[in-house]
Amino acid sequence: MSLINLIEFEEIGDSRGSLISLEQMKNIPFEIKRIYYIFGTKKKVSRGFHAHKNLKQIAICLSGSCTFLIDDGRRKDTIRLSRPNVGLYIDGIKWREMHNFTKDCVLLVVASEHFNEEDYIRRYDEFLKVVNE
Ligand code: TYD
Repeated sequence: MSLINLIEFEEIGDSRGSLISLEQMKNIPFEIKRIYYIFGTKKKVSRGFHAHKNLKQIAICLSGSCTFLIDDGRRKDTIRLSRPNVGLYIDGIKWREMHNFTKDCVLLVVASEHFNEEDYIRRYDEFLKVVNE
């Protein structure tokens, strides 16, 4: 089964354009403790390269596009995010990498926990050890 779990958000569109509302325990399947966004990513820069021990996240590309790689230690899947009405849901212990950001990419991330460096697994060998335990 693919590791790419997409959530399509309902657009509240009218003649003026579009609007999407994100609500915890409604179209976001967890309580939202943090929101952050990545923008102004420089040319040829890739980000991520870590897993989380206990974090649920939904990544939405509000503008531009970027590619996500999700890896559970057994398989890897990639997805190009380019639509503001589609969220990539990441939970469980998954290695993630983000590549090929367009200059105008604004990547919004909704997270279930406050920032906690202790929750990160930043070494791939350690990630493999944890998922194979
Ligand atoms: P990091 O998660 O490593 O970025 P990415 O996975 O996108 O490459 O975070 C980069 C830096 O920002 C790191 O020093 C931690 C800090 N940071 C926060 O302070 N709060 C946050 O919510 C996030 C996501 C990162």
